[in-house]
Amino acid sequence: MRALTVVPGQAGSLAVTDVPDVVAAPGELLVDGLAVGVCGTDREIAGGEYGSAPIGRDRLVIGHESLGRVAEAPDGSGFSPGDLVVGVVRRPDPVPCGACARGEWDMCRNGRYTEHGIKDVDGFGSERWVIEADRAVRLDPALADVGMLLEPTSVVAKAWDQVDKVGGRAWFEPRTVLVTGAGPIGLLAALVGVQRGLDVHVLDRNSDGPKPGLVRALGATYHIDDLATVSDAVEPGVLIEATGAPSVITAALTATRPYGVTVLTGVTAPGRPVPLDVGAANREIVLENDAIVGSVNANLSHYRAAAEVLERADVDWLRALVTRRLPLERAPEAFEDAHEDIKVVLEISS
Ligand code: BGC
Repeated sequence: MRALTVVPGQAGSLAVTDVPDVVAAPGELLVDGLAVGVCGTDREIAGGEYGSAPIGRDRLVIGHESLGRVAEAPDGSGFSPGDLVVGVVRRPDPVPCGACARGEWDMCRNGRYTEHGIKDVDGFGSERWVIEADRAVRLDPALADVGMLLEPTSVVAKAWDQVDKVGGRAWFEPRTVLVTGAGPIGLLAALVGVQRGLDVHVLDRNSDGPKPGLVRALGATYHIDDLATVSDAVEPGVLIEATGAPSVITAALTATRPYGVTVLTGVTAPGRPVPLDVGAANREIVLENDAIVGSVNANLSHYRAAAEVLERADVDWLRALVTRRLPLERAPEAFEDAHEDIKVVLEISS
């Protein structure tokens, strides 16, 4: 069967190749791949900067923002042929740490987790894939065009869960959220903020393209001023950082009002130092009881929360996040950066 594969660590190795057919083991669903979304992590893997192949193999099937249709499901699995499904990305360790053993693989402590399409296990960018029934999430049929947004939405649901948990250490009723970055993660984080009834502000550097309109369509406010100016004006109680840009992150550390919760979601590359007045930042964070928390990946509860977020959203708004749809054969084009792209999707079959 055809699959999108790469030799991790080797830039320029991305290709649609033939790989052996998959066979469902007991308890697994056999799934027809419909589409995968492409994100910054995929681009890093394709650039040779991230990711690892399964042990004993050179090539990794990539694609972790999945959408498929169940072809075969074991009796009693709760799934039926025809169901729309998404596969959970992260797998507990071979030797689970305490968190992984409790289903909190998104909080893995020993780093021995694996990730479909990223770290040591094949992803979902293939004509067929298999997944254990208890590691698959069923989607409402109305989300057939946009279900590949579930995985990034699960990452956002985890980030908001961190806001609640960290904020919950004392009285916490934030009214205003500032999201930095209007890419898929930032826009989906803004969507959740609006669904929660908050006053949502989104900061990005683009003044043209589809982003300003998408933010306004949510009833949120779009900003292109620098972060310090915007945060002084809106005084966010919550900040969700989704640019991964060092200068934005630096400013984000001190951008909230007292008892603010800032969640960092970007997996950035090292090597771009920026100046920071650590004394000033530390004093503000300490005197305000601010919290800065990193957040990655998602567990099953976040996937389920994300499915509810997408079901409650306007499907046309979600469709507009997908700015390019390409057939699998044209995958390399999906990895080229286009200025106005939000989410690029590779269609495997219809
Ligand atoms: C994925 C996460 C993953 C992270 C680190 C992100 O792009 O959405 O599921 O944990 O990369 O590999």
